[in-house]
Amino acid sequence: MRILLLIHAFNSLSQRVFVELEAAGHDVSIEFDINDETTREAVALFRPDLILAPYLKRAIPEDIWKAHLCLIVHPGIIGDRGPSALDWAILRGEERWGVTVLQAEAEMDAGPIWASREFPMRAATKSSLYRGEVADGALEAIFEALEKIERGVAPRPLDYGARDVRGRLQPPVRQSDRKIDWAEDSTELVLRKLRASDGVPGVRDGAFFLHDGHPAPGLQGRPGEIIARSGPAICRATADGAVWIGHMRDPAGRHTFKLPATRLLDPDVPEIPLDSEQGYREITYREAGDVGFLRFNFYNGAMSSAQCERLLAAWREACRRPTRVIVLEGGDDFWSNGIHLNIIEAAPSPADESWRNINAMDDLAEAIIRTQSHISVAAMRGNAGAGGVFLARACDFVWLRSAVVLNPHYKDMGNLYGSEFWTYLLPRCCGAQNAARIAEARLPMGAREAVELGLADAAFGRDRADFDAEVARRAGALAGEGFAALLESRNARRAADEAARPLADYRAHELAEMHRNFYGFDPSYHVARYNFVHKVCKSRTPLTLARHRDKRLSHPGRIAS
Ligand code: COA
Repeated sequence: MRILLLIHAFNSLSQRVFVELEAAGHDVSIEFDINDETTREAVALFRPDLILAPYLKRAIPEDIWKAHLCLIVHPGIIGDRGPSALDWAILRGEERWGVTVLQAEAEMDAGPIWASREFPMRAATKSSLYRGEVADGALEAIFEALEKIERGVAPRPLDYGARDVRGRLQPPVRQSDRKIDWAEDSTELVLRKLRASDGVPGVRDGAFFLHDGHPAPGLQGRPGEIIARSGPAICRATADGAVWIGHMRDPAGRHTFKLPATRLLDPDVPEIPLDSEQGYREITYREAGDVGFLRFNFYNGAMSSAQCERLLAAWREACRRPTRVIVLEGGDDFWSNGIHLNIIEAAPSPADESWRNINAMDDLAEAIIRTQSHISVAAMRGNAGAGGVFLARACDFVWLRSAVVLNPHYKDMGNLYGSEFWTYLLPRCCGAQNAARIAEARLPMGAREAVELGLADAAFGRDRADFDAEVARRAGALAGEGFAALLESRNARRAADEAARPLADYRAHELAEMHRNFYGFDPSYHVARYNFVHKVCKSRTPLTLARHRDKRLSHPGRIAS
């Protein structure tokens, strides 16, 4: 089918829909919802069989939905309507929620229903549920809808009298609905309010917006007071305990985007060590037999210079353990999205901080590549982008949860050249030709394609629990019989690669290019970073996505494996 994705932005769900529709053989093109005229033009150019809107904030123009089949993905159960579906589901403590594919009609979200999926809710942020359960359910529902279209099955009208229709029209969630009453609200309720509001818009609290809330077990104080700090986070007492707040936003401040909380507040309270049992925990380490698991749960997958340095220290520590395999687990929602663009944007000299950050990333990647004592595995249960993908490829094995989407390219960030030894790692695993095409394509990639191309070694486990269990099993197997031979051949290959071209040479070459990106005459990277961090909407769809507008592409297609 020719499917036009009409989207507000190419967000995680749209990327996943794009990747999976293409993998299923559909001809997919994308248009950003910029204005009605642009949408009409895209429809006329692409002549789609179906217009699919996985992430749209406005109604589709009437002349379009009357003339073409238009399906909307709504992150709510059947009958739910309104712009704050997931926010309400979390705030109200729903035990089950869902996602529905419905047909666009005059009334928003009230069209006939093509397919729907439900899932049990998890104690997680709105963004995490959206990237996880909602995306999984949406994909299943989309494919069910496509199958019905092909079979000529009609959709089911929305009937509020039907027994299984639990949803209803809900107003937008306002800040007054999210407001925390520190004197009254329990820790559980405070966390629900924070999670229902993360990543956007956060919970307004006095002058700030609060983000990135976590339980702080064992800590207590006068409700509302800041009682401790730990690395980037502050700890505030609730009516019956306390929560960590990792990130905040000051809408009237010098920098209006999210930053570590202790950048905005500097309370004179006891410091609890970062990553300690009672503190704010980003890096944790555990062992099972001969396998060490190093987890780095950095907010939004962004890795600042300091976070890279801490992770490098933790890596070195893990390498000193009498284990055989180290699994780098990344975080709950992202494995890594590369250097920390918000911290860079807020630095007195963004160029200097970019330089420091990329060097810290390279130090980490280099330490992983040069490790001789252990076999390393990147176990990616969450998505990764840009340098985060290549940091993973620095490991001997890359295993993906099968729903993971990778963005193995840097160029969208103002033509950034990129480092993390990608010029060594990418051709080595994918071949020179595919490496060049991946870097140029600027497209998301699904797990299956990543394995076909050699960017990853295996993909398995749709849900996190299955993935984690299989990772533990496979890592245990690597550490078992055959480990000595594996280690020897890996070390021999590294030695041969070093003799052919030293790592230092790759690094020097990449960093020379990056130096030009950061300090050179062309400001594209600084402009792109500013736009990314300040969430400036795109004013047109990139030609890499709007294939109907790209005259060079007579036959769009994926990268050949
Ligand atoms: N630094 C700081 N914040 C980052 C980040 C980074 N490198 N990468 C992602 N984020 C933040 C986003 O701003 C967003 O913040 P929010 O919680 O305020 O909404 C959040 O992480 C999720 O990112 P989003 O872009 O909404 O996720 P997505 O799944 O739609 O897209 C990417 C994922 C990786 C394609 C996209 O985030 C991206 O392009 N990131 C930048 C990658 C990069 O260029 N890194 C630097 C070069 S190494």
